[in-house]
Amino acid sequence: MVDHMKIKLNGTEIELPVIEGTENEKAIDISKLRAETGHITLDNGFGNTGSCKSKITFLDGEKGILRYRGYPIEQLADNSSFLEVSYLLNHGELPNKVELEKFEKTVKEPTLPVGICDLLDDFPKTAHPMGVAASAIVALSAFVPRENLDITKIDKDEVLGQLMESISIIAARFFRHRQGKKIIGTDPNLSYVENLYNMMFDEIPSEKVKKALEVLLILHADHEQNCSASAVRVIGSAQTNPYACISGGISALWGALHGGANQAVMEMLQDIQDNGGDYRKALDRAKDKEDPFRLMGFGHRVYKNFDPRAKIIKKACDTVLDQLGVSDPLLDVAKGLEKVALEDPYFVDRKLYPNVDFYSGIIYRALGIPTDMFTVMFAIGRLPGWFAQWRELAEFKGSKIARPRQVYMGENERDYIPMEKR
Ligand code: SDX
Repeated sequence: MVDHMKIKLNGTEIELPVIEGTENEKAIDISKLRAETGHITLDNGFGNTGSCKSKITFLDGEKGILRYRGYPIEQLADNSSFLEVSYLLNHGELPNKVELEKFEKTVKEPTLPVGICDLLDDFPKTAHPMGVAASAIVALSAFVPRENLDITKIDKDEVLGQLMESISIIAARFFRHRQGKKIIGTDPNLSYVENLYNMMFDEIPSEKVKKALEVLLILHADHEQNCSASAVRVIGSAQTNPYACISGGISALWGALHGGANQAVMEMLQDIQDNGGDYRKALDRAKDKEDPFRLMGFGHRVYKNFDPRAKIIKKACDTVLDQLGVSDPLLDVAKGLEKVALEDPYFVDRKLYPNVDFYSGIIYRALGIPTDMFTVMFAIGRLPGWFAQWRELAEFKGSKIARPRQVYMGENERDYIPMEKR
């Protein structure tokens, strides 16, 4: 039995169906609202609006729950690998040995076209790596057969493998090129994460570094309809090819309020450290409505409790830094800032907790990754999730082009004024 919501507007009453998800989330289906009432809804930032039905990721912001295809993020972080999670997100089930080996092959096979290598080498060394990544990923579309741009014809796993391999090579190649260091190619004997690290640092990572990187990439792999996944879906709703969709996702992630926050957190912590470690000043600025400054790495559109990923990363910080014999004063600044913020009524009342970006930079730094590469690391992790979101949309028979409405607040009709009368 489908439940209904009754709405009374200007004397007419209509019933709108209520749908319920497998985790008992409820939504009012307003597909017929405008036709039946002449009204639309308005929802700044879409905080109350579902854009789709999805089976990929479930999160409960009040309880701090995150699951990929039903598997709790904590169990995946402890037991899985980034490639296994990438397969899970895209196929809905954990792969068996044969399936995983086949998938690993599709990721390992591609190489970067020479034209893309030249493009990367022609970027100024001062270019932001996110702009480089977004450009290079969409440029890949120029080097594939035209039929690979037709979403009804492509081999999705082959394109996913190409994109996953390409973004890791793009990130590592530009990282070394801008330092004037020799380029390190992929090694077929290494895993995805080992290759990523080796291409960046010309060194095979220790088991501990490898595990830390696997966990970080797993934690970033998907997060339901976040800003960048929504960007991928909006672009994909026009039947645009996945290269352009993923490039759009990278561009959306670049923003300081989204994936760019991990870079902004480190800059904020460094600034606090450089100015005597006084977190109070940062907190006062964050609370001052006249000041655009926000406590980066804090708050979340959905989590009104601890971001489960932040909990895992915070715990990993201590372990990884200890294992690497690294001590980072910014970790103490971060912990102190978190403690003071979580006791401050402004943050408590607004349910503002550390999010995935608050501690991740500490580990990236300990691994030798520079601050402006943090968001590219986020993008590498998120790519299989974006692709899974795009794939679900592309395979959904009822998908429509994304075309929101608006409430017009501009001038009413008026006549053109000739220049001499202005
Ligand atoms: C990611 O959506 C996802 O899933 C994203 C992500 C993913 O995996 O894809 O989880 C990754 O993007 C994490 C978020 C990273 N961004 C930051 O850390 C930037 C700092 N955070 C804020 O900008 C903010 O919390 C957002 C953008 C994350 C969420 O913004 P909302 O939901 O629009 O929050 P809001 O503006 O409605 O805030 C409600 C109140 C406001 O104050 P009042 O008007 O009620 O007085 O809380 C305040 C806000 O001013 N507030 C903050 C704050 N975050 C919210 N005040 C100070 N510092 C902050 N960080």
